[in-house]
Amino acid sequence: MSAVLKPANQGERKAFYDKIDVHNVSPLWEVLHGIIIKEPNSAAMPYLWSWARMRPWLLESAGLITAEEAERRVLVLENPGLRGKTRITNSLYAGLQLIMPGEVAPAHRHSQSALRFVVDGRGAYTAVDGERVFMEPGDFIITPSWTFHDHGNPGKEPVIWLDGLDVAIVELFDAQFLERPEAKSQKTTRTQGGSFASFGNTMLPVNYKPSSHTSPLFWYPYDRSRAALAGMSQSGPAHPAHGWKLQYINPATGGYPIPTIATFLQMLPKGFRGREYRSTDATTFCVVEGRGSFRCGGQDFAFAPKDVFVAPSWRQYRLDADEECVIFSFSDRPVQQALDLWREQESA
Ligand SMILES: [Fe+2]
Repeated sequence: MSAVLKPANQGERKAFYDKIDVHNVSPLWEVLHGIIIKEPNSAAMPYLWSWARMRPWLLESAGLITAEEAERRVLVLENPGLRGKTRITNSLYAGLQLIMPGEVAPAHRHSQSALRFVVDGRGAYTAVDGERVFMEPGDFIITPSWTFHDHGNPGKEPVIWLDGLDVAIVELFDAQFLERPEAKSQKTTRTQGGSFASFGNTMLPVNYKPSSHTSPLFWYPYDRSRAALAGMSQSGPAHPAHGWKLQYINPATGGYPIPTIATFLQMLPKGFRGREYRSTDATTFCVVEGRGSFRCGGQDFAFAPKDVFVAPSWRQYRLDADEECVIFSFSDRPVQQALDLWREQESA
């Protein structure tokens, strides 16, 4: 007698599935081809949020709720393919946060790591672990996992920045913690600019030993980053897809500043016509200077300063520049590389 059994008919299979289903068991073969797929097929879509649209809405929100009541007054940039999931890509969250003159966004700390990229306005500060830094447009600032942080605006103008957080990654591991101290603002215990003096000049304090995977430098001022790009542009040709592109680093390790999020700043020369490119790390871009276009997934988005746009995982995109452009971007590349998942592909 053969050991190979005759396959059951559809009715018998259904009865079997129903029998095991009530005990939380299911047949892999019914879903296998949707789980193990040939290449990424993200539900995320390319999209652009224009500053011209977002700025009036942010200011309108200031009339509806205070920063203190909201805890963080943020308009979330939700990917159109991932609505309701509070994220801009499958793994990362992005939002535009507004703090009005005289407001304080109270202190708290959480497991999620955050980046701030200052978009508009001057005179507000972020305090991280007892050190305040006043933010200028184009500055990149880190809030490391589980460090107390609060924001305040003793200045005269509204200040808006882009937040990027690894919310969905921490949620994947069910590793979220949050703590709110009684005091709204942290006591300043460290000199402003202290971390920059120690770590911001390609040198390290001689006995420094890292205590976490996050950069000890938490403020990367725009003038320094832009000067580096300008210098690069004088010393060598632009990359065909990226122009001149630098990644921000943890000066103590040479790794990424945040364990879960990579950040970059790139410059495109006037008239640049970028080569098509794709990578598995879906990437969120924020324009600092210049106008041009972002083409992705058959769509063409014209961009201008302070606009935010997103390229989904493994979707071809290209960047063209009508003027000299400087663009900040971030993605989950460190996580993918740590797990040997990251791939990129440049068109010939
Ligand atoms: Fe926070």
